[in-house]
Amino acid sequence: MGCFLFLITFVGTLFFSSTMNLSVDTKSLAQSIRDGETLVSASQSFELGFFTPGNSNNRYIGIWYKFNPSKVVWVANRKNPITDKQGMLVMNDDGNLVLLNKDKKVIWSTNSSRVLENPVAQLLDSGNLVIRDNINMSSDGYVWQSFDYPSDTMLAGMRLGRNLRSGFERYLTPWRSADDPSPGDFSFRLDIQGLPELVITTGSRKEARSGPWDGRQFGGTLFSNKVVHNVIYKPMLVHKQDELYYTFEPFNNTVKTLIVLHQSGTQQRLVWNWKTTEWRILYSWPFDQCDNYAQCGANNNCRINKTPLCECLKGFIPKAEDEWDTQGLSQSRKCIEKSPSDCPSGEGFLKLPAIKLPDFYWSNNSMNIKECEAECFKNCSCRAYANSDVSGGSGCLMWFGDLIDIRVCPPGFSWGQVIFLRVPASELVKHYLNKKKRIKIIAVVSTITGIFILVLVLCTVWQKTKNRGSESREEEEEVPLIDSITISAATNNFSQANMIGKGGFGPVYKGILSTGQEIAVKRLSNDSGQGVEEFKSEVVLIGKLQHRNLAGLLGSCIQGDERMLIYEYMPNKSLDYFIFDDERSKFLSWIKRFDIIIGIARGLLYLHQDSKLQIIHRDLKASNILLDNDLNPKISDFGLARIFRGDDKEANTKRIAGTYGYMSPEYATDGKFSLKSDVFSFGVLLLEIVSGKKNRGFLHPDHHLNLLGHAWVLWNNGRALEVKDVCLEDSIESQVLRCIQVGLLCVQIFPEDRPKMSSVVFMLANEGLLLPQPKQPGFFTERGFIPGSTSSSKEKSHTENAMSITTQDGR
Ligand SMILES: *[C@@H]1O[C@H](CO)[C@@H](O)[C@H](O)[C@H]1NC(C)=O
Ligand SMILES: *[C@@H]1O[C@H](CO)[C@@H](O)[C@H](O)[C@H]1NC(C)=O
Ligand SMILES: *[C@@H]1O[C@H](CO)[C@@H](O)[C@H](O)[C@H]1NC(C)=O
Ligand SMILES: *[C@@H]1O[C@H](CO)[C@@H](O)[C@H](O)[C@H]1NC(C)=O
Ligand SMILES: *[C@@H]1O[C@H](CO)[C@@H](O)[C@H](O)[C@H]1NC(C)=O
Ligand SMILES: *[C@@H]1O[C@H](CO)[C@@H](O)[C@H](O)[C@H]1NC(C)=O
Repeated sequence: MGCFLFLITFVGTLFFSSTMNLSVDTKSLAQSIRDGETLVSASQSFELGFFTPGNSNNRYIGIWYKFNPSKVVWVANRKNPITDKQGMLVMNDDGNLVLLNKDKKVIWSTNSSRVLENPVAQLLDSGNLVIRDNINMSSDGYVWQSFDYPSDTMLAGMRLGRNLRSGFERYLTPWRSADDPSPGDFSFRLDIQGLPELVITTGSRKEARSGPWDGRQFGGTLFSNKVVHNVIYKPMLVHKQDELYYTFEPFNNTVKTLIVLHQSGTQQRLVWNWKTTEWRILYSWPFDQCDNYAQCGANNNCRINKTPLCECLKGFIPKAEDEWDTQGLSQSRKCIEKSPSDCPSGEGFLKLPAIKLPDFYWSNNSMNIKECEAECFKNCSCRAYANSDVSGGSGCLMWFGDLIDIRVCPPGFSWGQVIFLRVPASELVKHYLNKKKRIKIIAVVSTITGIFILVLVLCTVWQKTKNRGSESREEEEEVPLIDSITISAATNNFSQANMIGKGGFGPVYKGILSTGQEIAVKRLSNDSGQGVEEFKSEVVLIGKLQHRNLAGLLGSCIQGDERMLIYEYMPNKSLDYFIFDDERSKFLSWIKRFDIIIGIARGLLYLHQDSKLQIIHRDLKASNILLDNDLNPKISDFGLARIFRGDDKEANTKRIAGTYGYMSPEYATDGKFSLKSDVFSFGVLLLEIVSGKKNRGFLHPDHHLNLLGHAWVLWNNGRALEVKDVCLEDSIESQVLRCIQVGLLCVQIFPEDRPKMSSVVFMLANEGLLLPQPKQPGFFTERGFIPGSTSSSKEKSHTENAMSITTQDGR
């Protein structure tokens, strides 16, 4: 029976004290670890020893990364500190580690009940402190391990979850304060009541839930995206016969990453940055209001980028109107059914895509989705159903009673699961009429209500088919036609004095309507080659695009050959008026510029992806970004390319409607445009906003590069911050760097390398992502280097190793 303390490391290196390094061979033994001495793991990654937290005077046994002793990842005697420096950790006769104070009283001990022949304690390179038999090296043979009793930190390889046989649970608890490692009130655990999901709780109260595992990740939090797209670690949910747990492993062992639960109840994923030698936050959770458990109360959807935050689900209305606007804790809020239920005959299901599944469901793994639907339909108290297997296999979830803790996946993110919500037939029909989306109505048509609905729906379909030709006439009301006399009067007969700009598509005039409203009139040059009807239908389509970062179209005007578009007038002019001017650029602080960048990105994302039309702008530039009273950016001139070209999806164009300096190589040289040519222009614009310099006409004493080239060279020399506008004193360095990196990613020479706008928005809006390294930009010499040959009809002049294009600047 071993009555010595065997403390060895994997290759058996043991360090005593900080002043003297004593290395000992494998299986050497030591009597104890005294305060001041440490135990280091084989490859020097972790260290165990005594430490004092924060401003406390107490001593604790802890484990920390050797490269970063200040972040203690595990504490042994969390609740029972030693008050002096005379503590000692020893292995006792029965193979347990015990912590003794100076009076040899036991302060803390491991509680292995198995007695070993030859027990050793070993600090593994994973950060796990184990007690095992010195002869049997098998990992099943650990009689005790620190990974079974986590503190506030989850390291790679740790298991968060339950032993299904014994019920033993491993979970994180935060430190009570920076000075006190004893367990705080929160816990971070794997909830296995229903489908497994991560939760943060205080006592029995849920603070946040992650939504069920979707096969790759827990699918209902903003960080889901970061997890799915991350290249740092792989999350895993493991279901064995007698164990169910969550764990993760890094893709590359040189990467150090962990999860820590803070005393505030916030969980963070940290990644060690070897360059700056500090922990970088990959994500925090809860991240926003919608992550708070049941933020919007019952039957209510949380929408993070919308106002108001909460919106009753279809078929529900707020219970008490007056409670509704009060901010603060809203868990008592409730939406109730709008109309008395006509279940089961006149109800059906509405499909809601991409949401975080509500809490408290009933599940049956052997039912497929059809059976699930039928079962839910039969029982009037079944509010919703969903497929529990996202990969499409069988598995049925049903909700009875209130739907709690729902959030919708915001634009730019991709997560969430599909749920089918029970709604009265009237809602289904309304939804059908409004959204013109295909909905499945499973109403039983044997009742009068059912027949009535069917007739109504058929009628609508028939009417729609019949009216297809005249549809645009109905919708024209949305974008009013304004007669030319009104416009002429408003603009003082298009006087020179009222002209506020001139662009590629024609001059812009300021006007004042008789109502006092200020307008901007774009008088299109009359070479669009479009007929009246064509023009009208384009305007109707463009008029329907509504987004806070797009300039709103007030109306249009057609008279003979004359075609005009009428916009809201923006008193603050356009972005170029500010950023390229030494004095005015001071008005745009970094915070404002960052808002503007994000706003433009969102507007462009809407054009590219979220609107029905999928519009390629083709002439994105500083002068096309208008600023409203609050300096919010509004993209203007979108959709003009459609008016002048017809089909926006056509990948080649005879008329190049862009502006040099902003045009991507493939567009400028071959007339090839795509969503990615807009991304290029956005990248140029982004770098212009950060630098306050024009890409085209950029001058630098040291080289003949344009702004892109300048930024690229500085980036490669690790001096990217020098790109920043000198007047930006308040800037946040990490944000500026991220913007520059995203800018450079957008202007990469090959379109397929450039990110989509959805990724751009995501990369800009989220701190702490690991972004790809940009490759060489397109066009980076002063006048625009074009690789390969060109086929456009532009005037070209050749210089020795670069070609340049001369043409008039658009606007
Ligand atoms: C002890 O080891 C550290 C590296 O772990 C080294 O920097 C230090 O010089 C060593 N001290 C002595 C006295 O050898
Ligand atoms: C060991 O102690 C912990 C608390 O420190 C307790 O949760 C666990 O059940 C104990 N295990 C055994 C085998 O007694
Ligand atoms: C080592 O321990 C494991 C688990 O307790 C056991 O299955 C195995 O037989 C042991 N091996 C030896 C050589 O004792
Ligand atoms: C792990 O990362 C290091 C440093 O970045 C790199 O040198 C190494 O090649 C990577 N290993 C693998 C297997 O990717
Ligand atoms: C699950 O559904 C199947 C098929 O409908 C049924 O036979 C079984 O009893 C259900 N299980 C539970 C626990 O309700
Ligand atoms: C509907 O489901 C609830 C909850 O499972 C159950 O209590 C109730 O008996 C069911 N009603 C019918 C008619 O099946």
